[in-house]
Amino acid sequence: MLAVFGQGSRIYLFAFKEPVLAAANARPVCGRHVVAADLRGDWAGALRARGFRAEVPTHWVDEGVLGYLRREDAIRVVRTLTDLSVPGSHFGLAEFDTAQYSERYTGLRRLVRAGADGPREPSGLGPDTERWLAENGWRTAFRAWDDLVAPLDRPAALGSRDLGLILAVRE
Ligand SMILES: C[S@@+](CC[C@H](N)C(=O)[O-])C[C@H]1O[C@@H](n2cnc3c(N)ncnc32)[C@H](O)[C@@H]1O
Repeated sequence: MLAVFGQGSRIYLFAFKEPVLAAANARPVCGRHVVAADLRGDWAGALRARGFRAEVPTHWVDEGVLGYLRREDAIRVVRTLTDLSVPGSHFGLAEFDTAQYSERYTGLRRLVRAGADGPREPSGLGPDTERWLAENGWRTAFRAWDDLVAPLDRPAALGSRDLGLILAVRE
């Protein structure tokens, strides 16, 4: 497993996360290599330098990062990971962008934007992520968030069939 985050994250995220994992004596069940890189820069070079092999199928996960990048940066990241993906590679990501200006997320939006609210420049892959992926070499399947959480008996439903997770397979 390769975890890629930004330079800022190396200071803030890993400074917090790594000691917490160590204190909990958490042990990965696979090889784990942390690669600190700014996703707006040459993160692919940083991956290769740490032994990434593009000829082997890869499972990529966007766990809440693309939405923090400007639209053109997010697209560049996914074009790069597409180039690094041999057929059979997987890419998992969320489709939550359409809700970013809704009332429901006002508090969260203020928190992550240090109190600011209102319109901001487009970020992430945009509202039609599945079609974008299909046009760029990926076969996609979508599962609505509400279906995924239904068996968990928790009040986590979003009330929308459009929000959920995309699993893409490189063709
Ligand atoms: C919602 S958090 C996701 C955290 C992650 N899922 C985890 O478990 O650590 C968004 C992350 O995006 C990172 N990020 C923002 N801009 C970035 C960039 N240009 N390059 C790399 N990471 C970036 C932030 O540092 C933050 O850690």
